[in-house]
Amino acid sequence: MPSEEELGRNIARILAMAWMTCKRLIFLGFQRNSIFCKCLSLVCIALIFRAVFLYPFPGVGVLRENSFYWVHSSSVSNTQYGVRKDKFLEVPQIVWGLNNQKISFARACLTSRMLNRTLLMPSLSASLFYKELELLQPISFDKIFQFERFNSLCNGFVRLSRYSDLSNRTVPFELQKGSGRKWTVERDLDQLKQCRENPIDEYESIRIVGKNPFLWHDHWPVKDYAKIFECLVLIDEIADEATKVVSKIREMGSNLRSKTETLQQNISSSKEHTPYVAVHMRIEKDWMIHCKKLEQRSNISQICSSKEEIMDRVAHIRGLTKPIILFLAVADSLLEDASVLSGWPDGFFPFEKKKLGVWDIYNKYPYLIKSAIDYEVCLRADIFVGNSFSTFSSLIALERTQKLIAMGGSRSCGLRWSSYAYNILGAFGGPQRWMTDMSDSSLNAISYGSNKISC
Ligand SMILES: *[C@@H]1O[C@H](CO)[C@@H](O)[C@H](O)[C@H]1NC(C)=O
Ligand SMILES: *[C@@H]1O[C@H](CO)[C@@H](O)[C@H](O)[C@H]1NC(C)=O
Ligand SMILES: *[C@@H]1O[C@H](CO)[C@@H](O)[C@H](O)[C@H]1NC(C)=O
Ligand SMILES: *[C@@H]1O[C@H](CO)[C@@H](O)[C@H](O)[C@H]1NC(C)=O
Repeated sequence: MPSEEELGRNIARILAMAWMTCKRLIFLGFQRNSIFCKCLSLVCIALIFRAVFLYPFPGVGVLRENSFYWVHSSSVSNTQYGVRKDKFLEVPQIVWGLNNQKISFARACLTSRMLNRTLLMPSLSASLFYKELELLQPISFDKIFQFERFNSLCNGFVRLSRYSDLSNRTVPFELQKGSGRKWTVERDLDQLKQCRENPIDEYESIRIVGKNPFLWHDHWPVKDYAKIFECLVLIDEIADEATKVVSKIREMGSNLRSKTETLQQNISSSKEHTPYVAVHMRIEKDWMIHCKKLEQRSNISQICSSKEEIMDRVAHIRGLTKPIILFLAVADSLLEDASVLSGWPDGFFPFEKKKLGVWDIYNKYPYLIKSAIDYEVCLRADIFVGNSFSTFSSLIALERTQKLIAMGGSRSCGLRWSSYAYNILGAFGGPQRWMTDMSDSSLNAISYGSNKISC
């Protein structure tokens, strides 16, 4: 007889499969109560009966193999391939911008996965400082992202735990990451491989000391990073704040439309679905200095975009229904600069947090959370326009690409969730269409930027 746990797992799998299939069919245009879906529920019930009364269950494996992506490999996963729960990895505090921190965190996770160890929940940094380490304000991972959710979504792939889970406070093995020119990718990989062998592997905990994980060598493909990002879900409080900001943007957009469309045909889009464009404008002084240097060093002239260039390219995006509302994600230092909002062509209505009247929502929080809200607002936009040399923009493009793929399996530019890079000239004088190459073998292009993007 099957154990109860196995039965439960099978039933959960079947339900998840049936649910995903139904969702796909609805997505593809089938009606929710079409005969097909009704039949499917009958089949589903029959399958449950089968799972309960028959074992082993030969159908499941076959179905899973033939699936496009039946079950999110993470949502129902098999614990027997799990990560060891009695061996741990400790990493240094994670620092710098929100997206540097996300990448660092993912790299720490993938390192612990390679060592088959549970990652001890690292500290993030609430404030944005590059040099003054004492001002970094450590903030626990679970004050930003959902801890349990992370483990359940990433189950079988990587695992996080709290420091209190260390069974025995033994002295950890301290692993010094090398640095300098001589510390090559290969040496770094060799060092990690040694840690998988005794005597180091015997240690309950390995503590990596030295540089922050963003500066470690990268050994993993983009899709592994993407998998970790998928498991990062904001805590409800922060997600709710982002929802408030998004509703405010859509409401403003809907007001604009109703003013101009009063006498025209019914407005097809309801208030909740008034589309908006999010533009991540990197034009603040320190970025301009940085990007000019980068242009010289890399001999690429497409990194910096002036405000005028951004406006011009956004204005040339095809297929926008005007009037259209723009959410400008800009550095706080630019909020005082009214010129960011002026000069846009007719039909474009730019807003930043202050003009939108949501400054109070942001202002309650430290840098990291402010940035997380901005990120979420850009992520949920109907159209996103950013700079392909910005980590912030690149991670948004990556997550939007994942969503596109998950929704329709489309690997080319879709109509929904489109992203653009304004620093590269695309078709019709507009910005370049942008999808992340998920088959890339390292995250380099995303963490340091690239001009080779398209779909
Ligand atoms: C990690 O270790 C466990 C227990 O030894 C093992 O079952 C599992 O396959 C290992 N995972 C990987 C990815 O090597
Ligand atoms: C904890 O560590 C002590 C010495 O460090 C050892 O004697 C003891 O057996 C350990 N206990 C467990 C449960 O590993
Ligand atoms: C708008 O649509 C509603 C029903 O969807 C209809 O009753 C109404 O007459 C329409 N108004 C105009 C101005 O077309
Ligand atoms: C920079 O690129 C241009 C063309 O893109 C090329 O003509 C020039 O030689 C390059 N300069 C250097 C120093 O590589």
